[in-house]
Amino acid sequence: MKSEEHPSAYRKQVRKYWRQAHRPYLESVGTTFQAGLMNLGPAEEPVTRSNLHLAAAAGIRPGDRVLDAGCGVCGPGMDIARQIEGVTVTAVTISPEQAATAKKLIHQARLSSRIKVSLADYHRLPFPAGFFDVVYFFESVGYSYDLARLFSEVFRVTRPGGVVYIKDVFSRERPLSQAEQEELAGFNRTYAQFQTPTLRQVREALAEAGFEQVRGRDLTKRITTAHALNAMFENRNGSLRPTEFGKMHFRSYRCAAVFFGEIKAARPEPKRLGPGNNSKRQHKCRKAHNPNQGEKTWQIEARRSSRSS
Ligand SMILES: C[S@@+](CC[C@H](N)C(=O)[O-])C[C@H]1O[C@@H](n2cnc3c(N)ncnc32)[C@H](O)[C@@H]1O
Repeated sequence: MKSEEHPSAYRKQVRKYWRQAHRPYLESVGTTFQAGLMNLGPAEEPVTRSNLHLAAAAGIRPGDRVLDAGCGVCGPGMDIARQIEGVTVTAVTISPEQAATAKKLIHQARLSSRIKVSLADYHRLPFPAGFFDVVYFFESVGYSYDLARLFSEVFRVTRPGGVVYIKDVFSRERPLSQAEQEELAGFNRTYAQFQTPTLRQVREALAEAGFEQVRGRDLTKRITTAHALNAMFENRNGSLRPTEFGKMHFRSYRCAAVFFGEIKAARPEPKRLGPGNNSKRQHKCRKAHNPNQGEKTWQIEARRSSRSS
């Protein structure tokens, strides 16, 4: 299906996949829906540690307003809000089941004042311009049916000087063999991904949208997929059986066609005016707690202040 032309048909397909996969993920994987975790050595709470490592890589700082684009049931958002003081998380998912479960979990964790979940398509974000300090995607970019549209929307909602961070699975730049192409198509089908883009495709789409300092790198050597593999099987009376999650997702991939990577980019600050001009612009976002309050309240204010001569 050419889903750029039929995004609503593809959106339906993605919602259907997540409706079917919702319980299996929760029962076997937990509340962070990622195939790869940062391998930070043996430690307790490896999922939380991985999420916090990604948050640090994204440059999330105390008090930041962050957008979790493709949030699942907000496992990462909850880890981040718990551990980084004053951070407020706005989270979007296209799955009604995920949004409902996320709200329940956030309420149980007493984080409702810090995390808001919206059921929305990240290509059409219901938030005002310049609202977020950091926008992050943890294994959710492969669901984009239009990278250009996605990143121009992300550019719009990121404040000048703000950051977009992506950790995901990417396909290799080199031409893929027939077997690799088939394996990749099978991988995309299994997870209902629109595509697995290359690092370069994503970097170029970010640059095209106006982001600068676009940097990407291969993370494969620093990632473990052991937890995802473990979630696919369970030991029942001494024999290894596939879980519901495993029945849906287990394939014997050789995985030569894909790798884990990360990309970070910044929305440029407005250019300083030249010395001949005796006014300067300052950009400032007004603070409030509900991003859905309306564009007016949240608009970036461009304030002019006269320089004393
Ligand atoms: C592999 S899950 C990752 C979830 C989450 N980032 C995590 O780490 O637990 C992919 C997520 O992308 C979301 N997604 C897919 N297409 C989307 C779209 N068009 N708009 C918003 N979210 C989308 C799915 O609903 C799901 O939450």
